[in-house]
Amino acid sequence: MGNQTMQSAPVQYLDALSSEDGASRAIELFRDTFGAEPDGVWSAPGRVNLIGEHTDYNAGLCLPIALPHRTFVALSARGDDTVRLVSSIGDGGVTTVDLGGLAARGVHGWAAYPAGVAWALRENGFDGVRGFDAAFVSCVPVGGGLSSSAAMTCSTALALDDVYGLGFGNSDEGRVTLIGAAMKAENDMAGASTGGLDQNASMRCTPGHAILLDCRPELDAFHSVTQQPFDLEALGLELLVLDTQAAHQLNDGQYETRRGMCEDAARLLGVKNIRVVADEISHSVGLDRAVTASGGICAHDFENVVESADAALAEVLGRLSDETMKRRVRHVVTEIWRVPQFVAAFSAGDVKMAGELFNASHDSLAADYEVTVPELDVAVDTARRNGAYGARMTGGGFGGSIIALVDKGQGRRVAQSIADGFAAHGFRAPRALAAVASDSARREA
Ligand code: GLA
Repeated sequence: MGNQTMQSAPVQYLDALSSEDGASRAIELFRDTFGAEPDGVWSAPGRVNLIGEHTDYNAGLCLPIALPHRTFVALSARGDDTVRLVSSIGDGGVTTVDLGGLAARGVHGWAAYPAGVAWALRENGFDGVRGFDAAFVSCVPVGGGLSSSAAMTCSTALALDDVYGLGFGNSDEGRVTLIGAAMKAENDMAGASTGGLDQNASMRCTPGHAILLDCRPELDAFHSVTQQPFDLEALGLELLVLDTQAAHQLNDGQYETRRGMCEDAARLLGVKNIRVVADEISHSVGLDRAVTASGGICAHDFENVVESADAALAEVLGRLSDETMKRRVRHVVTEIWRVPQFVAAFSAGDVKMAGELFNASHDSLAADYEVTVPELDVAVDTARRNGAYGARMTGGGFGGSIIALVDKGQGRRVAQSIADGFAAHGFRAPRALAAVASDSARREA
């Protein structure tokens, strides 16, 4: 081929199922499998995190939007403790779980997620929750780092809340209780150590907004989330999401190792979490005062403030001896700082700055946090070289998806250039999605 650019097949776009389609397919699968009508249909979305990666379990900040891509569940309550599950993604077979006497890690495979939600609710004291029959239909790509797991646990949690009359689904505060059960299902039943970003996004986002999620455990529902307008149209932009199709797994120990090292670092630094380090420095050098969501980035000497913050961080890192640990902490602290900067830049219409923050986030995840893989780096690099204002991996990493901020109408071209680059590298063909900020979990029928 010499120096010729390799042309690949047209990049595949993953369309979202409409509410009507998703609901009727879930009902049909339910009927075909269980020979009855479901009590109702509920759905929950996947997410992309705009910025603030690997910060949630460090009590930090994140900025996710809900995708239009959702998981639909047709579900009926049962009078006993049996759970029967079927999914359009599987082989059509029914998985049965007995909730009676079930213990953590007692279910394997995908059934651990929905069955785990009922188990978690009961463990959390909601004894009225019994078994259920459920049929899942989803257009959230599995393993794409777009929270297909949270879409499943959150749709189940909302459905169980409804059919068992718990009454949490109708308020933001109540939803925080359901998020707790969804997280417990993922952590303790499925063994996937997730930190809350995905479930909060799936349960609390609103159309046209990103949520600024503050993960400090001491915050109540009212203070942990603020809705931030995220209107790409108004800025003439498009957010390309590209699933690299590189295998993505959170339960192979890498995520746990990162998390454990952050906790160790906090202990060594004598703070309850790394967020404290980020906030103390930010406050002492005036970074927090320079960056406000309403006023944009307002210090005329912003660069100097950032330099002082970096210098103060270097001093703190000097108290740690392990070089890897230093880099991990540097990622978390600088990433927490980038979140309000992105909010300020975006709300001021400063697309260039917003893009630079995407780039800085990715570079930090690649070099300091070491959670990228070649597919993610190539995708990001190609997007940047083809006109993206900025591009970064989104989600946990080790595979999964990237996001790129591009001019409206340019997403398909950029996606295709990445697909061509992937073909040249011998990678699997990626798949693209168009992202608009969508709605959280809801009842569909
Ligand atoms: C995964 C986890 C989240 C979060 C991200 C990284 O998606 O489930 O809790 O930690 O990785 O930001």
